[in-house]
Amino acid sequence: MPSPLICPSILASDFSRLGEEVRALDEAGADWIHVDVMDGHFVPNLTIGPDVVKALRSCTDKPFDVHLMVAPVDPWLEAYRKAGADVLSVHPESGPHLHRTLGRIRDLGARAGVVFNPATPLAILEEVVELVDLVLIMSVNPGFGGQSFIRASLAKIERVRAILDRAGSDAVLQVDGGVTADNAAACVSAGATALVAGTAVFRGGPAAYAANIAALKG
Ligand code: DX5
Ligand code: ZN
Repeated sequence: MPSPLICPSILASDFSRLGEEVRALDEAGADWIHVDVMDGHFVPNLTIGPDVVKALRSCTDKPFDVHLMVAPVDPWLEAYRKAGADVLSVHPESGPHLHRTLGRIRDLGARAGVVFNPATPLAILEEVVELVDLVLIMSVNPGFGGQSFIRASLAKIERVRAILDRAGSDAVLQVDGGVTADNAAACVSAGATALVAGTAVFRGGPAAYAANIAALKG
């Protein structure tokens, strides 16, 4: 089985040294940099604005994978794209017209991602599968790092894999929340091709990042 893309979430980094943290992740073998954008309204936490993304852009050439937990999300797409986002992922609940939002993301020249919370039905994916370059399955309820992986997510990943394969889609299938070296292989067996991890990458400090990323790759 091919190794998954590892996308460390900088939510778990030392915010007082964010630029150094992104450089360290690059050197440690991160494939993408996962940026969790939270608005204190769609989710109960407040994090990273477009100016921070822009400031970090010069720290690495790796793709910036921006997970937008913001409602309404449409007014923010262009700002994060201009700031340097390569992937923009949105929740269906973050605006009234998911189809239009995904189209706008592609029009901006970014890869479009759709995100499913634990209770969000995959029926929505059937309607937009042609418009997405990435499907993100949340294996925790979004808002915070350091939560426990919801085991039922594995069956959901399998169902996404079946939908993508049936549609002939080569979209990235990403998992986010509570991913560790203990459950990474199960996610990949279920069909995931990219893993987001905060706690599991940052534990042990910068000297441990490379080994932590390697352990997630399996
Ligand atoms: C949760 C975020 C995740 C989270 C991952 O709302 O989307 O990206 O920070 O952190 P861990 O790996 O610690 O669960
Ligand atoms: Zn995330």
